Amino acid sequence: MQLALKIWRYDGATGDKALREYEVDAPEEATLLDVLDLIKDRQDGTLAYRKSCRMMICGSCGMRMDGAAVLACKTRMYEIANTGHVPVISAMGNLPVIKDLVVDMDPFWAKFKAMKPYLQPGYEEPPDDKEFRISQERMNVIHKESLCINCGCCVSECNAMDAEPEFLGPQALAKGMRFVGDPRDGAKAERLDLYSGEHGIWECTRCYFCNERCPKGVDPRDAIAKLGAEAMKEGIDEDMGAKHANWFVTSAKTTGWLRETELVPKTQGIVSSIKEMKFAMGLLKHGKVPPPFPPHVAEGVKESRALFDLVKQQGRDGAAGIVQGERALSRLEHALEEDPEHAAASRIAPEQAGGASGGADA
Ligand code: SF4
Ligand code: SF4
Ligand code: FES
Repeated sequence: MQLALKIWRYDGATGDKALREYEVDAPEEATLLDVLDLIKDRQDGTLAYRKSCRMMICGSCGMRMDGAAVLACKTRMYEIANTGHVPVISAMGNLPVIKDLVVDMDPFWAKFKAMKPYLQPGYEEPPDDKEFRISQERMNVIHKESLCINCGCCVSECNAMDAEPEFLGPQALAKGMRFVGDPRDGAKAERLDLYSGEHGIWECTRCYFCNERCPKGVDPRDAIAKLGAEAMKEGIDEDMGAKHANWFVTSAKTTGWLRETELVPKTQGIVSSIKEMKFAMGLLKHGKVPPPFPPHVAEGVKESRALFDLVKQQGRDGAAGIVQGERALSRLEHALEEDPEHAAASRIAPEQAGGASGGADA
């Protein structure tokens, strides 16, 4: 097949940047990585990019195609070539570019290390000559997080990191959940405390781009939602984000809707709220917010309360209460077939919550 693509070339030493077009004759089964190899072999040996496994395992070949992060070795070019579209290839976002499609991964690995990505001692030791046996059901909680290959595609597209580079980000936090949810780890509370700090869990803006771009189905946003739920279950809820989520639950349970006028005092405290009073009065005057008293109670409030009670009865607090994406649900149902009672509960909850979607914090 004949195809063309444009590549943003960049020289870190001089700062020179240029968009170059290449035309290639490639086999129909070629991936983006194969096409880059052809260009490097036959047209321009100075083109720089990373690769290793060529089979979606090592995580080396993350880059952007038409502005969205992809693994080059997973991206087939046949359909693109057929449409005649000329894709633009560039380096991943949110990481400094060194040369062409190669980014500096040091900031990525620094955040990875900050999560303490190894099991911490402190758990109960198994009896002599015995091994720990952990049920599949418990490991399912972190199954998706364990699939991460550290490619950085999620980091590339993270809006919160774009606005605040210190934010730990989707990859590091997904890794954090992999250990928080591991029953063998002895430092769950310390981890949750660490991850709930400044630039942690609650800095995520829930844009879901990380879920959309992850090539391995890790769904990092779901992992962050699980971390938030686990932190609140442990009583680690001092951050404004946690208070915000708590208020959503209280508000929905008591009146069946979100009482936004009370959101600021409940989240930021009285002192901050007084500072915002002039702004709030302006909103009230222009009918942008309803009067706070008496609080409006929704007609269907009983339904909202029944849903809350049902979730409580099922014990679906913490990570177990997070509604997972479709792929994870099918895996959970498969694994829970030997435990029909629990399997039934896991099937009921997503439907009652409105179907499979991303995650929720509370
Ligand atoms: S959902 Fe959160 S972590 Fe994921 S890309 Fe958006 S801001 Fe970043
Ligand atoms: S979570 Fe997905 S996109 Fe992010 S580093 Fe891991 S595998 Fe890559
Ligand atoms: S080369 Fe290893 S993931 Fe693409």
